[in-house]
Amino acid sequence: MKTVKVDGERLWASLMEMGRIGETPGGGCRRLALTDEDKAARDLFCRWARDAGCTITVDGIGNIFARRDGTDPDAAPVMIGSHLDTVPTGGKFDGVYGVLAGLEVVRRLNDLDIATSAPIEIVVWTNEEGARFSPMTLGSSVFTGDIALDFALSRTDPEGVTIAEALERIDYAGNEPIGGRPVGTYFEVHVEQGPLLKEGGERIGAVTGSFMARYFVATVTGEAAHVGPTLMEQRHDALVGAAALTLEIDRIGRSRGREGRSNAPHIELFPNVRGVIPSEVRLSCDLRNSDPAELAKMEQDLQAAIARIEGERGVSIALEPYFEFGPIRFDAAMSGLISETAREIGLSCRDILTVAGHDAVPMTTCCPTALFFIPSDTGISHNETEYSTPEQCVDGADVLLNAVLRIASV
Ligand code: GLV
Ligand code: MN
Ligand code: MN
Ligand code: MN
Repeated sequence: MKTVKVDGERLWASLMEMGRIGETPGGGCRRLALTDEDKAARDLFCRWARDAGCTITVDGIGNIFARRDGTDPDAAPVMIGSHLDTVPTGGKFDGVYGVLAGLEVVRRLNDLDIATSAPIEIVVWTNEEGARFSPMTLGSSVFTGDIALDFALSRTDPEGVTIAEALERIDYAGNEPIGGRPVGTYFEVHVEQGPLLKEGGERIGAVTGSFMARYFVATVTGEAAHVGPTLMEQRHDALVGAAALTLEIDRIGRSRGREGRSNAPHIELFPNVRGVIPSEVRLSCDLRNSDPAELAKMEQDLQAAIARIEGERGVSIALEPYFEFGPIRFDAAMSGLISETAREIGLSCRDILTVAGHDAVPMTTCCPTALFFIPSDTGISHNETEYSTPEQCVDGADVLLNAVLRIASV
């Protein structure tokens, strides 16, 4: 089949223009879900998509669908999606690249006057990051029915603002019914967010599956007391318990080589006042492994560490699971399509697992799904220095354009 190429300069210019919304002094982006910055990014996307001839609809959780009609009115859409929200110190590529690569596909089809039989819908999913509202991949999980709409709308940010209120405020509480309609296929191209493609020199990673991830909240309970007169042997310091636990969590991941990951990335401390020994800490804990049996062993290690720390530090620790994803396998025909398309256009490609969560993970329950990566040139993400080169961005968009054409063509 003949291959086509995207307009790389237009793609890069759009990425850089979008990256100015919420730009940070360190060259990254701060565009938390449903804030003024997220609204500005959504508005810009909608304007660009309308200019490209798309019809915009928004559903009740704020997911945006930009549709380019196909010639077959009965065909289920080919969706291309990702997210525009970022973590507080994020970069200019995570999520936004996948959305703008989708837009570039539509723009290029327009340039070349190519009609597809299936409609193409570019999707912006709400709150992928889970940074302002938890959990992550919220919009896509509501779309697939994995998370109930009422539960999602009632999630609050640290100030107590609900998603329902935040959506109303930025005027993205849409009235399109949520999900429940056929989707032909879903494509998501993303930056790798790790070093493997860069290390191996491959230009595309076809994602065949995901690590399994489990998130917990550990509540460490001690006793509030005066920081001065209380004797050292009298203390039940919840923060000291949480510090010991954090080190253990780190050790548990490190002891698994490249197959394990672990972190305690979020902490709430009470009463968090100078003069009072901390009485309670809520520590989030994130364990990941490519092998679910190994993940179960990591959890056992965590339980053993908790029992030890309780004895050593005179605190009690309750561990509650609150979110998990994976392990999943992506549709083999879809990952095969990505590898074949990459090779056809002369790009080296390897199979890879995703360690990070993506909207493509819940979408696997809805339709055949392809997730694929371009290299993270700095090998790092969720960091202001996150970077992929213009050429790397073009590679992924070229694969996306040609793979979508193979699925959606007349
Ligand atoms: C987000 O991408 C996560 O994997 O936690
Ligand atoms: Mn992302
Ligand atoms: Mn992210
Ligand atoms: Mn993610």
